[in-house]
Amino acid sequence: MKKIRVAIIGTGSISKLHAAAYKRLECVEIIACCDINKDRAKEFAKKYDVPQVFTDFNEMLKLEEIDAVSVTTWNNVHAPASIAALKAGKHVLCEKPLALNAVQAQQMVDTAKEAGKLLMVGFVRRFGENTKALKNFIDSGELGEVYYAKTGCLRRWGNPGGWFSDKKRSGGGPVIDLGVHVIDLVRYLIGKPKAVSVSASTFNKLGMKPNVKGIGKYYSADYSEYNDVEDCAAALIKFDNGVTLFFETSWVQNIKKDSLYLELYGNKAGAQMEPELELFENKGEYLSNSKPLMSTEGSSFEHNFNEEIQHFVDCIANGTSCLNPGEDGVELMKILDAIYKSSETGYEVVID
Ligand SMILES: NC(=O)c1ccc[n+]([C@@H]2O[C@H](COP(=O)([O-])OP(=O)(O)OC[C@H]3O[C@@H](n4cnc5c(N)ncnc54)[C@H](O)[C@@H]3O)[C@@H](O)[C@H]2O)c1
Repeated sequence: MKKIRVAIIGTGSISKLHAAAYKRLECVEIIACCDINKDRAKEFAKKYDVPQVFTDFNEMLKLEEIDAVSVTTWNNVHAPASIAALKAGKHVLCEKPLALNAVQAQQMVDTAKEAGKLLMVGFVRRFGENTKALKNFIDSGELGEVYYAKTGCLRRWGNPGGWFSDKKRSGGGPVIDLGVHVIDLVRYLIGKPKAVSVSASTFNKLGMKPNVKGIGKYYSADYSEYNDVEDCAAALIKFDNGVTLFFETSWVQNIKKDSLYLELYGNKAGAQMEPELELFENKGEYLSNSKPLMSTEGSSFEHNFNEEIQHFVDCIANGTSCLNPGEDGVELMKILDAIYKSSETGYEVVID
């Protein structure tokens, strides 16, 4: 069987999880990688045994033998790199967020259609075992009609700096970095409805808040303390299937501790997916809480990336229907655009 030949654009932190997942698959070869930071690209090539190294993705994409690419760059490079790859006839797995905004994201989807190639967006959390279990419960009617959801991803002191906090390169702060995951999860779990309106506030009051002792945080690879993005946000998002979602996120906020939560409420049962899967319902005359037993391996970051990459390769090799098509990335960007617009204008934004 002909191997699928893959290249990686952007060889920073997350590219390593893509590479490790590709390396597990016998039908895949990583044949090239590219980063504007030559030393980082060379180090990556050495670690993952990649024969060809580039600093310009347009040069790399001239290699006819490349079948598919992972785009794992700063957010502002997702659209140009993906569009160039699709035009060069490659399938693309692009990290989240799909682009800086919905207009760019739509251009990517249109290019994929014209090229007849796959554009998959890296909503990796959809591959978690807890997501799969809850999706099955919802689809088999165990929650009944879901009408309200709440989700949040909050850090007390977690602005990663570097490109993440430079709006030109990231598109925004925790809304586009963390919110993209949890809003997508809710939308995915409730059947991918379209968002119809968003009312939101974003705040930029604390910035980098750099002088904290005794607490570690994630630092961007090319760390700097430039910061022009929001440090926290809250939004009320309404969908065309009648579900209302309350969402909040922060990189820096004077809260007691970091937290991640995702809860859905139906007329038969409620469910919490984060921090751990649990269902809330009535059993006879009693209120009952139940926790499905989940494997710890099935909730690791590596597991989710392995599943995501396996799925991308299956879609290319076997024509499997894509779980995370680019269109889902566009819908998400419309919601994120509306959060920023609502905050700027002070009014609810209606999404067409
Ligand atoms: N799915 C997830 O859970 C998850 C987690 C972390 C990051 N991400 C996403 O992955 C992407 C990368 O994040 P990261 O943490 O790896 O960042 P990073 O800074 O560690 O790596 C990004 C790399 O892209 C390179 N780059 C920038 N412009 C380039 C260009 N024009 N051509 C080639 N390379 C270029 C940088 O030099 C850097 O090495 C971001 O979009 C981020 O949102 C996703």
